[in-house]
Amino acid sequence: MSVAKRDYKRITVKTLVDMKTNGEKISMLTAYDFTMAKIVDGAGVDVILVGDSASNVMAGHETTLPITLDQMIYHAAGVVRAIERSLVVVDLPFGSYQSDPKEALRSAIRIMKESGGHAVKLEGGKEIKESIKRILHAGIPVMGHLGLTPQSIYKFGTYTVRAKEDEEADKLKEDALMLERIGCFAIVLEKIPAKLAQEVAESVTIPVIGIGAGNGVDGQVLVLHDMLGMTHEFHPRFLRRYMNLYEDMNKAISQYVEDVKNLDFPNDEEQY
Ligand code: KIV
Repeated sequence: MSVAKRDYKRITVKTLVDMKTNGEKISMLTAYDFTMAKIVDGAGVDVILVGDSASNVMAGHETTLPITLDQMIYHAAGVVRAIERSLVVVDLPFGSYQSDPKEALRSAIRIMKESGGHAVKLEGGKEIKESIKRILHAGIPVMGHLGLTPQSIYKFGTYTVRAKEDEEADKLKEDALMLERIGCFAIVLEKIPAKLAQEVAESVTIPVIGIGAGNGVDGQVLVLHDMLGMTHEFHPRFLRRYMNLYEDMNKAISQYVEDVKNLDFPNDEEQY
């Protein structure tokens, strides 16, 4: 059996903490629909993130801000129907948790009830502490997200590396400790210096999963469509492309067009 699939029949939030304790790295990828989720789950990925990056990848928006709670629930429900083993974490979208803890809880409950997801992820630190606590008190597992938090892109102004200066790095470290203290089961660190990410991972007992945060953390996450090379205009240093699906799909579809035009498709065996 492959390393990725060993031992765990079904991944839970407790499994992830055990993995960190045992020094086993955690694999996480995004998925936004049934078909892709089935492949990702079948390949042994530990955590599937129904990320609000669906706003960019699936809907073509420039940022993650426009995606709605209803749309996130739609994506997550398809993913949940596909999986047998992976833990499914669903992003709370921009505007569904920032205004007050009661609204945050209502949004998280809708995700859990209507999609069947197993946990939610929220971006931010002490500013949203009360919202996270409220959700946790309802028995809903929460994954934190610090560093580059794309829902705040208009505050940052760019998608560049975060927490390079001491002040922001110190706040990030405090926020990570706070997220652990109040009961989050894991934290995503996005696009921060590798040394800082390792320091954070070593300072908490919950798993820290990085994207553009180096190798000293407890696991890695990538956007599925980026690592498969379906998107091709996005070249951050942290992204490893395992395939060039954009080109392969383009070739296959061009061939289909040619076959249709040349009356080559369907042939005698492909009709009734
Ligand atoms: O929405 C998303 O895909 C994410 C990952 C980049 C961590 O939050």
